[in-house]
Amino acid sequence: MKEIRPLNFNWGYRPSCADEQCLRDGNCDGFEVVDLPHTNKVLAYNYFDEKEYQFVSCYKKNIDIPVQAQNKEVVLLFEGVMVSCKVWCNGSLVGEHRGGYTPFSVSLTQAVTPGESAVIVVEVDSTEQPDVPPFGGVVDYLTYGGIYREVQLCITDSLQIQRLWVSCPAPLAAEKELLCDVEITAAHVQEVAVQVQLLCANGDEVATQTMLVCVQEGTARYPVCLKGLQNIALWGLDTPVLYHIVATITSEGVVDTCETRFGFRKAVFTNDGFFLNDECVKLVGLNRHQSYPYVGYAMPERPQRKDAIIIKEELACNIVRTSHYPQSKHFLDACDELGLLVMEELPGWQHIGGEAWKNQAVIDMQDMIVRDFNRPSIILWGVRINESQDDHDFYAKTNEVARAMDPTRQTGGTRYIQRSEFLEDVYTYNDFTHNGGACVFRPQQESTGLDHFVPTLVTESNGHMYPTKRFDQEARSVEHALRHLRVINEAMGREDIVGGISWCAFDYNTHASFGSGDKICYHGVCDMFRNPKYAGYSYAAQRDCAKGWVLEPITVASRGEQDGGGGVPFYVLTNCDYIKVYKNGAFVDAFYPDKKSFAHLPHPPIQVSHLMEDDMGLAFSPEDKIAFKEFMVGVITQGGLIAMKPEQIGYLMSFAQRYELPIKEFIGKVIRSAGGWGEQENELVIEGWCEDSCCITHTISEKKFAAGITAEADDTVLICNGDTYDATRITVRAVDNLNHIMPFTHECVEVVVDGEGALMGPNKFPVCGGVISFWVRTTGKAGVINVTVNGMQSSAVCAITAVEK
Ligand code: GAL
Repeated sequence: MKEIRPLNFNWGYRPSCADEQCLRDGNCDGFEVVDLPHTNKVLAYNYFDEKEYQFVSCYKKNIDIPVQAQNKEVVLLFEGVMVSCKVWCNGSLVGEHRGGYTPFSVSLTQAVTPGESAVIVVEVDSTEQPDVPPFGGVVDYLTYGGIYREVQLCITDSLQIQRLWVSCPAPLAAEKELLCDVEITAAHVQEVAVQVQLLCANGDEVATQTMLVCVQEGTARYPVCLKGLQNIALWGLDTPVLYHIVATITSEGVVDTCETRFGFRKAVFTNDGFFLNDECVKLVGLNRHQSYPYVGYAMPERPQRKDAIIIKEELACNIVRTSHYPQSKHFLDACDELGLLVMEELPGWQHIGGEAWKNQAVIDMQDMIVRDFNRPSIILWGVRINESQDDHDFYAKTNEVARAMDPTRQTGGTRYIQRSEFLEDVYTYNDFTHNGGACVFRPQQESTGLDHFVPTLVTESNGHMYPTKRFDQEARSVEHALRHLRVINEAMGREDIVGGISWCAFDYNTHASFGSGDKICYHGVCDMFRNPKYAGYSYAAQRDCAKGWVLEPITVASRGEQDGGGGVPFYVLTNCDYIKVYKNGAFVDAFYPDKKSFAHLPHPPIQVSHLMEDDMGLAFSPEDKIAFKEFMVGVITQGGLIAMKPEQIGYLMSFAQRYELPIKEFIGKVIRSAGGWGEQENELVIEGWCEDSCCITHTISEKKFAAGITAEADDTVLICNGDTYDATRITVRAVDNLNHIMPFTHECVEVVVDGEGALMGPNKFPVCGGVISFWVRTTGKAGVINVTVNGMQSSAVCAITAVEK
C-alpha cells in the first residue's frame, strides 16, 4: 500500500546555489528554516525591483527513510517549483524539472538506504529562462520563485496505481456508465485483481466492479467500466455533486489504492451557446492570477480556496479562467466543490519560442491535462499561448495532443488577433473593443474572419482599457463599474457569443513594462487583497437574490466629490427589484433598474437621478409635479444646474411664475433637490424592495466622522497540524460613524501577532483607501492566535484558534 507523507515543514533554505559540500552532509548550518509553500523572497507591496526574486536558491531537508521502504519505490512529488530545479539525494543528482506550474516526481529509490536518513537538496533557479514557457519575452505578471507548492514523499510497491482517468460517455442517460482507466505500473507481467468503487461523498457505495487483468511490465491503462448506474446526481452550478472513485489493485500480496473525485455532467460549446447538462448557460466570469501580496505564489490551501469562494459566491461568476497557467490544485478543488466552471490554460504570454520551447509547452499542457483530467469544473482546455500569433504546426499539435488525451473536453486558445486560424473547438478571443463608447464586443465574424458561425467565447475585456485603483476618484470607479456592467450585459445578450470572461478578478504585481509604474496592474474588480472595488459589485449584484441580497450605492456620498458638485446622480448596484430613497427622513422617490441600457442583465444598475423630496411643499398640479420632476432629472443627469441653458432656466422660472412662488425659496428647493452645494448635510436611507417587501436597507450620509478601525478574519479556526501550515486573511477597515469604509483614509497601522501564529508580510502598512488585508499563518502548534491592529487613534483585535484536526 502506498504511503504518502506530506513533507512541508522544516526545510532549510539559502538564497544561493547548492555546492558540493551541501549536497552530501546533513548539516543545515547557514540555512534558514522554512515551511512550504515558500517564496524565495518576500516582496514589498509595490515599487520593488522584479529582479529581486530572480536568482538561484537552495532548499535542503534530511528525511528518514523507514525500514519498510526496503524493496519499495521511494519518490518525491513536487506540486510546483518556480522556475526550474535540480534535485539531489545523498549527493546524487536524481532529477531535474523545468516549468513552474505543473507537478513532477523524482525517484529516490536508487539513492536511499531504508532505515537511514537521506539528504535532499533542491536547487531552484527562479530566473526567467528564455527556453522555458512563459519566458522569452516580457510577460504581464510576475512568476516569483521557490518551492511554492507542497511536496510529498511517497513510498510504494513497484506494482502501483499511478492515477485514474475517469469519464462518463453519456452523463444524461437515465442509466449511466462510468469508465475508469486505472493506470498501473508493474515490474513484471502479473495477474492483478482490480476493483473500482463508486462512492457518494458521504462514503455510501453506489457501485463496485472487480476484474482480473493481466498487467504488463511498465505503465499502462486498464479500463474498468461500471454500468447500469441509476439515480446518479448530476454536477451542476447550483448542485456541484461530487462522487468519489476508489480503485484498489491486489496481486501477489501487494495492495495499492488510488482515489479521485468525479462529477457527472455534460458540458458542450455549440453555435447556440454553452450547454451544461443540456441547459444553456451564459458564461460570465473573470480571469484570475494566482499571486498574492508579499508572498507571490506561495499561499497554502485555505486562501487558494477562498479565491474560488470570492469569485463564485461574492462576485457571482459562473466561470473563471486560470490566466495564464495551471493553478493551485486547492483552488481547483474548490471550483469543483462550488460549481465554478474553469477554462484552464497552458503557461505562456504572447511569446512563442523555438522548438525546445514549444516542446516544453506541449509537455506543460500534457502535465496539466494529466493532473486535472477528472475535474468536473474544467470545461475547456486552453491550448494556445495566451495572445500569441498563429503558428499552424504548433497549434495543430497542441490541439491534437489535447484531443487525444482528453476526447471528453473541447479545446480553446486565447488570441487577440482577429481572423486568427481556428484550429480549436471554441474560438476564444480577447475583445478589448469597449472603451466606454457604445461598442462593446465585435461581431463574431469580424473576430473570426470565418464565413460561418462557430462557438465563440470572449476571454478578456476591460483590464488595461481602464485601470482603476480601489481608492480612485468616485467618477473613475463608477465608470469602471459601468464598463464591467456593459461587458456582462453584452455577454449575456449576444447570441453569437457564449459569454464573457473579463480582465480580471484581482489586481496583481507585474513587470515594469505594464501597470501603473508601481509594479501593479490595477485591473482587478477587487484589489490585490481581494477587497472589492465598485466594479466588484457589478458582478455581485447579478447574484440570484435567493443567495443573498446585494445593495451597494457606488458613491462616496459627498456632494463635493463629483465634478461640478451635487452628489447626484449616483448608482446603486443591487439585486432588488427597485429601491426607495429617503432624504433626512422624507420620502424622495422609488428608482428602478436601467433596463433600457442594460436589457440583458438580471439586475441592471439603478440610477438615483435626483434628491427631490416627494413632497417639496410646492402646490403643483399632478401634471406639473411630473413635468417638474422630469425636467429636474434631465438637468441633473445631463451636467447639473451649472450646465443649464437659458431656455431651461426660463422653463424653470415658468413654474415659479405660474404658482407665484417666492423666487429665492423656489431656487433654494431646486438647488437642494440637485444636491445642494453648501446646504445641510444629507442622510439617505436606501431601501431595496422585492415585490412588496423591503429586503435590505443601506444608509449613506454626508455626516461623516472617523469612528475607528475594525479587524475581521475570514476564518476564526485554523488547522495547526495539516499537511502544511494553514493561513487566513484578516481585513482591516477604517470606518466612519455608519461603519462604512472611509475611502480616502490612508491611516497607518501596526499589526502584532501573539501566540501560535505569524504574520505573512510586513507588520506596518497604511490602510490604503480605508481597507487593507493581511494574512496570518499557523506555526504548527495548537493555541490561540491573537491579532492586534493598532491604528493612530484606535485599535482592533481579532482572535483565531489554531486547533488539531
Ligand atoms: C491582455 C493579456 C492579459 C493582461 C491584459 C491586461 O492582453 O492577455 O494577461 O495583460 O491584457 O488588460
